[in-house]
Amino acid sequence: MTALLSVRDLVKTFPGRRGRTGRAGPPVRAVDGVSFDLGAGETLGLVGESGCGKSTTGRLVVRLLDPTEGSITLDGQDIGGLGPAGMRPYRKHLQMVFQDPHSSLNPRQTVARIISEPLLVQGASAADARRRAAELMDLVGLVPEQLDRYPHEFSGGQAQRIGIARSLATSPRLVVADEPVSALDVSVQAQVVNLMERLQRELGLAYLFIAHDLSVVKRVCDRVAVMYLGRIVEIGDKHEVYGSPAHPYTRALLSAVPLPDPAAERARERIVLLGDPPSPADPPSGCTFHPRCPKAQERCRTEQPLLRIAGPGTRQAACHFPEA
Ligand SMILES: Nc1ncnc2c1ncn2[C@@H]1O[C@H](COP(=O)(O)OP(=O)(O)OP(=O)(O)O)[C@@H](O)[C@H]1O
Ligand code: SF4
Ligand SMILES: [Mg+2]
Repeated sequence: MTALLSVRDLVKTFPGRRGRTGRAGPPVRAVDGVSFDLGAGETLGLVGESGCGKSTTGRLVVRLLDPTEGSITLDGQDIGGLGPAGMRPYRKHLQMVFQDPHSSLNPRQTVARIISEPLLVQGASAADARRRAAELMDLVGLVPEQLDRYPHEFSGGQAQRIGIARSLATSPRLVVADEPVSALDVSVQAQVVNLMERLQRELGLAYLFIAHDLSVVKRVCDRVAVMYLGRIVEIGDKHEVYGSPAHPYTRALLSAVPLPDPAAERARERIVLLGDPPSPADPPSGCTFHPRCPKAQERCRTEQPLLRIAGPGTRQAACHFPEA
């Protein structure tokens, strides 16, 4: 398989925030050497605790942010270093769906205008853009008669459908969905997930699906990547990762997910992690997970583990003492 998207050694450093003294704090390595591939039509889930760098990774991939280091290759072309003009031909292939549909849609624009915007930017005529917006409304399960309404006239689930329609306007090949259902009522989440799955089948989309809800990720993804403090600590086929997690951090995350089967749920062993994730401005030495890891040994304090195959399949984990 040649990858649609290949990310290699991606780094994003933000300047440190100014403290009360007015002096800038140390820089934050929000993304610290991330590599992965994503095939056409495939879904890769990206999970991990708040602040581990999921959104930053997603924004780098669609080039809403400039990488500090590393490469982002789309269809064999390195787009990581391209400026706005160089990005123009690639922009349409990379789109994003955001967490909060209402705050990501301009309240003063009609739905027609919101969905048409990416097409107008690409040089479409107003009439063509409106025609396409009507088609897209239909595609996401809304009625084209609602095109001249404003975002506040829609429910959260409907507004997210509008956000999805906008992301599809330019017929992208990859959509980065950053917590696309977390802000929605539970009853609506499944409908939006169903819609995203149907659109993927019909349009051959690849998704980078960012979420903290591991059950949703298990359902929608082919593969999953687990991030901790700006790095991927485990990545692989979802059946391998969910079925027998190799990294202690993945085990802890999965142990917090309730199981549908009552007997299994009663027997579920919860691994409680000590403390909060450390600051990416001052990461621990060696394996950055060592202060919280139940399996940590002396070597973990000094030697940073690299991602490598762990277990019988193709899954990779960054741990000196992986499970299985
Ligand atoms: N523009 C910015 N300037 C400075 N620091 C930032 C910026 N954006 C993100 N960060 C920092 O980078 C780290 C990663 O943030 P990011 O938003 O990517 O995490 P996340 O995994 O998406 O978290 P969440 O689950 O809460 O959405 C955090 O420490 C965050 O404070
Ligand atoms: S390398 Fe050591 S500290 Fe890090 S996850 Fe593995 S066992 Fe835990
Ligand atoms: Mg985020």
